[in-house]
Formats: sequence, C-alpha cells, structure tokens
Amino acid sequence: MENNRPSWTSRLTFILAAVGSAVGLGNIWRFPYIMGQNGGAVFLLVYLLLILTICFIPLFAELAMGKITKKECIGAYESVNPKFKFLGFLNPITGILISSFYFIVGGWIINYIINSFSNQAVSNYGDYFSSFIQNPLLSCSYTILFLFVCIFFSARGVKKGIEFANNVLMPLFAVILVGLIIFSLNLPNAKLGLEYMFKPDFTKINAQMFLAALGQALFTLSIGMGALLTYGSYISDDKSITKSTYTIIFSDTLFALMAGIMIFPAIFSFGLEPSSGAGLVFVTLPHIFSQIPHGNIVSLAFFVLLLAAAVTSGISIIEVPIASIIERCKISRTKACVILFFIISVLAIPAALSFGLLSEFTIYKKTIFDFLDFATSSILMPINALFLCIITGWFLKIRGENFIQNKFMAYLFNIGLKYIVPLIMISLLYIGLK
Ligand code: PHE
Repeated sequence: MENNRPSWTSRLTFILAAVGSAVGLGNIWRFPYIMGQNGGAVFLLVYLLLILTICFIPLFAELAMGKITKKECIGAYESVNPKFKFLGFLNPITGILISSFYFIVGGWIINYIINSFSNQAVSNYGDYFSSFIQNPLLSCSYTILFLFVCIFFSARGVKKGIEFANNVLMPLFAVILVGLIIFSLNLPNAKLGLEYMFKPDFTKINAQMFLAALGQALFTLSIGMGALLTYGSYISDDKSITKSTYTIIFSDTLFALMAGIMIFPAIFSFGLEPSSGAGLVFVTLPHIFSQIPHGNIVSLAFFVLLLAAAVTSGISIIEVPIASIIERCKISRTKACVILFFIISVLAIPAALSFGLLSEFTIYKKTIFDFLDFATSSILMPINALFLCIITGWFLKIRGENFIQNKFMAYLFNIGLKYIVPLIMISLLYIGLK
C-alpha cells in the first residue's frame, strides 16, 4: 500500500497545490464576512498579527509531520505513538464537517455562474440571494454538484487538474481581482469602506473576536485538519519546506487583503451592512457587476475563477478523509471517493436546508450551517493545531536549527512550537468559549 501512495511530480506542483489549498472561499467569502461581523479593522489587525507571528509555526509543523512520517493523518499520529491515534482521527472528522458547509458555498458559486448567462434584471440582490438559498431543491442540487466536481478530480488522483488550476487560473484570478479593486475604489463613498477596513476602532475589541481571528487564520491557511499534513506526506524529495511555508502565507494573505479591498468600499457605497453574515460577498458582488459595462461577462469570469479556487481547496479538504479511508480500509481511491461522497451528502443536505426548511432547527443558538462553520474553525481547528504543536514539538522533536539558518530565529521557532503557540491557542480557546 505504501508504494501506491501518490507523490508530487515536482516541488513546484507541491507548492502550487498547497497554495491552491490555502487560497479559496476562506479568502474571498469567509474573510470579509467574519471581519464584518467582528468589528472591521481591529479584527484585521489581530488576524494579521496572528498570521505574521504564530501561524508560521503550526503551518510548518504540519507540513513537516507529513513529510517525515509519510503517512495520512491517523497513521502519522499513530507512528509517533500508538496512544496518539485518536488525535489523528480528529483530522478527517474535521475535514468531513468542514466539507459539509464549504461545499454549500461552492454550490452558491455554481448558481451565480449559471445566472451570469441570463440577462434577467434583479431589483434586490439581497432578496434574490435569500430566496435562492431558501430554495431546497436548488441549494441541495448545487451543493451536490460542487461535491461531485471535487470528488471527480480527487478520484482521478491529486495531481491532475490541480496543476492547471493553480498555474493558469489563479494568476488570472488575481488579475480580475485587481480590476475589480480599481473599480470598487472609484465608487462613491469608497473611502468609508477603506476606513472600516484599516482604521481600527479599539472599543470593538472583545474575547470572541480573538478566537474568531484565530479560527479565520487557521481556516484560510488550511492549518489544523490535516490537509497540509497529507499534502506534505506526498513530498518525495528531501528539499526544504520552509520556502513553501512562506509562499503559502504570502499568497493567502495577499488574496484575503485583495478580497477585502474589493468588497468593503462597495459595501459602503451601496449602503449594505458589513455584519450581515455569510451572504455578504454574494450580495455585494452582483451590485458591483451590475454597474460595470458588460458586467455579466465579468461576473461569469469572476465566478468561474472563484470556482476554480474553491475546487482546489475543496479537493484538499476531502483528500484528508480519502487518504485515511484508503489506508484504514485498504480500498481503492475510487471506492473511498464513493463512500465519502455519500457521507458528505448526508451531512451537507441538512446544512444546506438550514437556510430554509430547517432554519428553525438550532444547535447552541446557531443554524446547522453556522454551527458547523463555528465548531470547525473556532473549536476543532484550534484544538487540532494545538495537539499538532505539542506532538511535533515534544514527541516528534522537530527542531528549528534543522531548517532555519539564523540561530536566534531557530531558537524562537523551538520555544514557539513547544510553549508559546500552545499557550496562545489554549488561552484564546478559553477566553473565546467562556
Ligand atoms: N484554506 C481553504 C480556504 O481558504 C479552506 C481549507 C480549510 C482547506 C482547511 C483545507 C483545510 O478556502
């Protein structure tokens, strides 16, 4: 079985796949809406601080653990010590739970792509979006369609498709984002949006915001559910992963900031509400497109590229449970894909219906969709990342001096991995959930 494990054709393919995993709906859809719900600029400040100071450590540790153990999550934890096997299990479980809301948003993109073809005039984009997500048939079928696309690529193997999507489509996506940013910045009242994003109002600081920022940082960088561990386990050469870590952080943050600068000026210009929740981007963007000459062509291009970004991330999310199912059940990739398709469908359908038919059904005062989003990014991912640091720092004994030349930085990495990052994670979890 071990010999059948996939491996990246080149170092570049690996970096592209890892960046493809990081850059996705987390940047374009989740980042603006979570920032809008958590006070704007102060949230951005905390988020950037977390990314620049502590996220490098678990990100590197996760890739390194995969590369060193050459196993999927469960096997990787088990190989450090059989007692840690259950920690490995938490990763594919988190992956399945993330899929069950992530793929719904993927479905929303498909709907917007289809709509770009019709010239139907929409008078209120907010109402349009709500009636779409409340429509059980539409939202469930698009969710399943998106899931099918990701599973289809995964069944063909991790490498095919990913390379094209990341090599060609992501740079195109950046170009279209820059175009939309220029448009957005020239809208009336755009300044208000920039102020909201960059002028911190410190009265808005609260404990939950810190946990939300940590959750967003982990989610957007794909840390804490084994995606990078699994991708790292497919690295066959002995080259360093330090550069890849910087590339992932840099590109991911760039895309998130671009998304914010595109969205917030438009929100203020069109008199929308930054804290309106998960639909924020999907209501704001059509406003922008409606004002651009040939807006439906721009809209089509934008959503197709966003779909590509979402698919490359979606593939990395399901790769974790797929790799674990293949290894644990000793079955083929295709069979594992079919099994996972059913598991995710069963969970994603109630989550998709939670905007309409099941909107009254709540868990801890949250709809199924919001609960899954919160439980994974604000609880499970920080917990997984915490264990990851403890296991790699204390048991696998990953050491900075083996990959960082500067002695002081290597020292900082070591104490960060063993003490500082775990302590910060525990504190943020404690104050955020209290
Ligand atoms: N980072 C991805 C995004 O921003 C989502 C993701 C989370 C991917 C966890 C893999 C693991 O869209």
